[in-house]
Amino acid sequence: MSLLRTQKLVKHFGDTRAVDGVDLIVSQGEFLSLVGANGAGKTTLVNLISAYLQPDSGHIFFQDQDITFLPVADRIKAGIARSFQLVNLFDDLSAFDNVALAVFSREGKTRNLFTLAEKDDAVTQETLEVLREFGIEDKRETLAGGLAQGERKLLDVAVAHALRPKLLFLDEPTSGVSTRDKAQIMDTVSSVVRAGKITAVIIEHDMDVVFKYSDRIVVMQEGSILADGSPDEIRQNGEVAAMLLGAPTST
Ligand SMILES: Nc1ncnc2c1ncn2[C@@H]1O[C@H](COP(=O)(O)OP(=O)(O)OP(=O)(O)O)[C@@H](O)[C@H]1O
Ligand SMILES: [Mg+2]
Repeated sequence: MSLLRTQKLVKHFGDTRAVDGVDLIVSQGEFLSLVGANGAGKTTLVNLISAYLQPDSGHIFFQDQDITFLPVADRIKAGIARSFQLVNLFDDLSAFDNVALAVFSREGKTRNLFTLAEKDDAVTQETLEVLREFGIEDKRETLAGGLAQGERKLLDVAVAHALRPKLLFLDEPTSGVSTRDKAQIMDTVSSVVRAGKITAVIIEHDMDVVFKYSDRIVVMQEGSILADGSPDEIRQNGEVAAMLLGAPTST
């Protein structure tokens, strides 16, 4: 069953056809990679699906409901969460509070966050469990702004995961980290996703990572889908190989 489906989705910025008639299907349970050169439209597509941008035209269906005009909070409630290419953390709050805030917002408990956080044992336990799953429990008291880049990327994914989504978008979770940190982040993220049976869409430039972790790969070029297939099919696709050799870089 398709969990998410976009229909002729369009978003232009002036003359730039960032997303230009995209029909994307994400199936229940898959780990999908979205790849393509810088400026191909990957982040814009995720911004449209997560309601950070409104499309010029087209539709978005989630579990067969038309969610095209639902605001961010309602899409989160429906089960869509995302992490950010440039992390979206409260730098002046601890790692713990960043995750606790997500747990609270999911429960609709927005008032008196900090007094509640001390008293609400269930939230505390769940927050610690999320931090543990991502291997950053020992950093719980560290301000997000003081974490190393790899830890910040993991925390940003942890915050999205704490919303307990059915569909999790990860926009370059390994950008700006060392090769060693990259492997650790991907191992952690993929094990959390697989253990939670979460459907995940990851944007990633490193094709070694993409081939290693993906069930399916969708290749974007200039706002359109150029190819869609299994890692083997994409590896053998000459057009894709030529495009990817055009040296996309991580940002
Ligand atoms: N808010 C905006 N205003 C104007 N142009 C934009 C805006 N956001 C994106 N664009 C343009 O739309 C195109 C697609 O951008 P997008 O960020 O979606 O690409 P991307 O595939 O995520 O690239 P990267 O791999 O570099 O992150 C680019 O030409 C970009 O400059
Ligand atoms: Mg991007």
